[in-house]
Amino acid sequence: MRIDILTVLPELIKSPFEASILKRAIEAGLVEVHFHNLRDYATGGYKAIDDTQFGGGAGMVMMIEPIDKCITKLKSERNYDEIIYMTPDGERLNQGIANTISLKENIMILCGHYKGVDERVRDMFITKEISIGDYVLSGGELGAAVLCDAIIRLVPGVLGNETSALTDSFQDNLLAPPIYTKPREYKGHKVPPVLFSGNFPEIEKWREEQAYIRTEERRPDLLED
Ligand code: ADE
Repeated sequence: MRIDILTVLPELIKSPFEASILKRAIEAGLVEVHFHNLRDYATGGYKAIDDTQFGGGAGMVMMIEPIDKCITKLKSERNYDEIIYMTPDGERLNQGIANTISLKENIMILCGHYKGVDERVRDMFITKEISIGDYVLSGGELGAAVLCDAIIRLVPGVLGNETSALTDSFQDNLLAPPIYTKPREYKGHKVPPVLFSGNFPEIEKWREEQAYIRTEERRPDLLED
């Protein structure tokens, strides 16, 4: 998978890719991530990438020309399965969306800033708009980092244990069950004995029950879908 990230603040989004699982995925050649600074595509003496809104109103708008130049250059080099715009008015990210995107070969992610982008960018180039939740971030970069983390860990070979992404919370619309490690007892708090019974069908049954109970208690909305 190849991900191209278009941003005015590359320094805000690079570090998540320089640590842990994302770093290993890149080093193993399973994922390529490229950053493009939209300022490099700006024209004019001031290298402006934003301007005031037509019709008046507070806040600057990202101009279409630098974005067009960057997207058009990338599209001339390869085909993109999705060109995603990170925005609070997009579709709210969930595990299903992450699963779908993780199967794509080439994706582009545009990070918005200021008030957002000129609407014609969305009309002309964007194939999918994603929000990471009902709150406003100061830019799309942190949202793009969240999206990339959610999809890259699903790319085959990225997680050591191939089954581990399948047992995550949300994969079957259930939250994950409680998990424990040593010691068996800590300050009077005991691990449920079934987990060291060695009876794997029983353990599986317990986990399924716990996942259901937890989902019912915390996220009953997941059981309605
Ligand atoms: N940009 C600003 N707020 C955002 C959000 N909630 N999700 C994605 N991108 C954003």
